[in-house]
Amino acid sequence: MPDHDIRVQGVEVRYGRLKAIRGIDLELRPGEAVGLLGANGAGKTTLLNTLSGFLAASAGTIELFGKPAAQLVPHRVVREGLLHVSQERDLFGDLSVLDNLRLGALARGEQRFDENVERVFGFFPRLRERAQQQANTMSGGEQQMLAIGRALMAEPRVLMLDEPSAGLSPFFVDEIGSILSTLRTSHQLSILLVEQNMRLAARIIDRFYILRDGIIVAQGTATDLEKNHEDLAREFYL
Ligand SMILES: Nc1ncnc2c1ncn2[C@@H]1O[C@H](COP(=O)(O)OP(=O)(O)OP(=O)(O)O)[C@@H](O)[C@H]1O
Ligand SMILES: [Mg+2]
Repeated sequence: MPDHDIRVQGVEVRYGRLKAIRGIDLELRPGEAVGLLGANGAGKTTLLNTLSGFLAASAGTIELFGKPAAQLVPHRVVREGLLHVSQERDLFGDLSVLDNLRLGALARGEQRFDENVERVFGFFPRLRERAQQQANTMSGGEQQMLAIGRALMAEPRVLMLDEPSAGLSPFFVDEIGSILSTLRTSHQLSILLVEQNMRLAARIIDRFYILRDGIIVAQGTATDLEKNHEDLAREFYL
């Protein structure tokens, strides 16, 4: 087994003339949960989209599960087991909860659909109650649960989450926090978590990186984050 799920070296990503990622090194080892923190516009989503194969790096190398990711297109990245719960959640709004889960299983894990859907319903009992409800009529928190549930249907080896707590009430943030910690301890899953809520991040991660203007300006452990999150926020978010 490769010793890295994700290894990023010297990566740059551009939007035309704008360099949104300006040379970063980062790694995620099997079973680790790593936070990617930083202010609005720092480049967090850009990096996740690059790892998912939606954007191409203009310099540097990315390895996924020990293989060069240069030729990986999004559906192949998913098939390898890297699942991205995007900031927009990207649900199929006209379809039911259950159909969204079915689509999640298409790329991977289709043979174990029944077992996986039970596992997802176990994590999110609300989704079971609402299996036939149209996705875009669900509340924001319920849609976030569905987006995570859909990713879990594909039996991820790595789950990348882009601000799962955005717009959620403290109750939902708490619930998502417990589910992510359960997942990481009991399901041999690595997590790359983009999160503005440092308390939530500290609950889940082992290590973190702080991104500012497309470069990594700090890194540390969950303990550092717990102790110093106010100082870190003041120093790097303003
Ligand atoms: N499609 C695009 N075209 C041009 N510039 C873009 C595009 N997407 C993002 N950017 C720019 O790249 C930079 C990084 O954006 P990105 O969305 O990665 O930030 P982020 O850290 O995810 O921020 P947030 O916390 O607000 O989601 C920003 O300056 C943004 O304006
Ligand atoms: Mg973003």
